[in-house]
Amino acid sequence: MKAITQDAYGTTETLAYTDVPTPVVGDDEVLIQVRAAGMDPSVWHLMTGLPLVGRLALGIRKPKIRIRGWDAAGVVEAVGSRVTRFRPGDEVFGAVPGAFAEFACAPEIKFQHKPVNLSFEQAAALPTSGMTALVGLRDVGHIQPGQNVLIIGASGGVGHLAVQLAKHFGAQVTGVCSGPNAEAVLALGADTVIDYTSEKLTGTYDLILDMAGNRPLAELRSLLTPTGTLVLGGGENGGRWMAGIDRSLRAVLLSPFVRHRLRGLLALPDPEVLGVLAELATAGAVTPKLTRTFALPEVPTAIDHLLTAHPLGKIVITVS
Ligand SMILES: NC(=O)c1ccc[n+]([C@@H]2O[C@H](COP(=O)([O-])OP(=O)(O)OC[C@H]3O[C@@H](n4cnc5c(N)ncnc54)[C@H](OP(=O)(O)O)[C@@H]3O)[C@@H](O)[C@H]2O)c1
Repeated sequence: MKAITQDAYGTTETLAYTDVPTPVVGDDEVLIQVRAAGMDPSVWHLMTGLPLVGRLALGIRKPKIRIRGWDAAGVVEAVGSRVTRFRPGDEVFGAVPGAFAEFACAPEIKFQHKPVNLSFEQAAALPTSGMTALVGLRDVGHIQPGQNVLIIGASGGVGHLAVQLAKHFGAQVTGVCSGPNAEAVLALGADTVIDYTSEKLTGTYDLILDMAGNRPLAELRSLLTPTGTLVLGGGENGGRWMAGIDRSLRAVLLSPFVRHRLRGLLALPDPEVLGVLAELATAGAVTPKLTRTFALPEVPTAIDHLLTAHPLGKIVITVS
């Protein structure tokens, strides 16, 4: 099968569009024919091996998993002997390592049935970004109806889903994004938008979900109510060792000594969360917005586009 592989950490030049063996399904696994694969900054993290501390899990010298890609939607090709929820022909989606390939294999618990009202491309856009948004607001942020919620990075892969989810949970939502994306963020349901390129962040919020990651803790805390919650989910600042992690670490260490709840966010794949997302998508409460699709051989271009073009919502790789 064709796949995007990588044998050393680095730039997009370390990626190759090559032939590799099709995975063989294990007893607890599901093999899918990939129709679409999601793109998000975690692909960049896995490609570069940054922050360096992440290599303890990803592979010290080179990526343990040779095929890139993390989210997929497709059709079940084969199931292992102990799989009970899926059979060949089912349409599924999930957080599947090695998604930039014609076929991908993962344990049964990584998958859910694809909501019938979502295309394969929309479903592939949902797992990592949607789980991050849902865990950030619901589990870490403890969002409540009527709260004032600020979502920084509201036009991004995570943020545009967080805006919809926060409205679903009954919050009053202010989104932060660049001017060209403001109208679209309002159309997603945000009550107010702040253009970070021309305006200072203002207001007082019960909950802030920061997916942009570049503002000092003191600035964000000045926007909270006295007992408000700050959830730090994004950012690539902090140097090669701790990029995206150092500010969350400082926040968690400070939190016991202040009235604000300061929390880091690490949304790992979780069957319960993916199941809730599937239900919410089926009910129309959350719909991934696709800005652009790329073909499988164009993954390096898609990564460059994600990093430079300020796309609204999600980029998706089509595979068929
Ligand atoms: N903690 C976790 O479990 C987890 C999971 C997934 C992702 N992440 C991280 O979360 C971050 C966001 O992910 P994503 O997929 O949403 O990325 P994305 O699609 O690139 O979105 C980035 C968002 O940040 C906004 N932004 C950029 N610079 C800003 C600034 N100076 N002030 C305010 N907003 C700014 C962008 O607005 P415009 O495009 O309108 O400029 C856009 O809305 C990344 O750092 C990613 O690594 C963390």
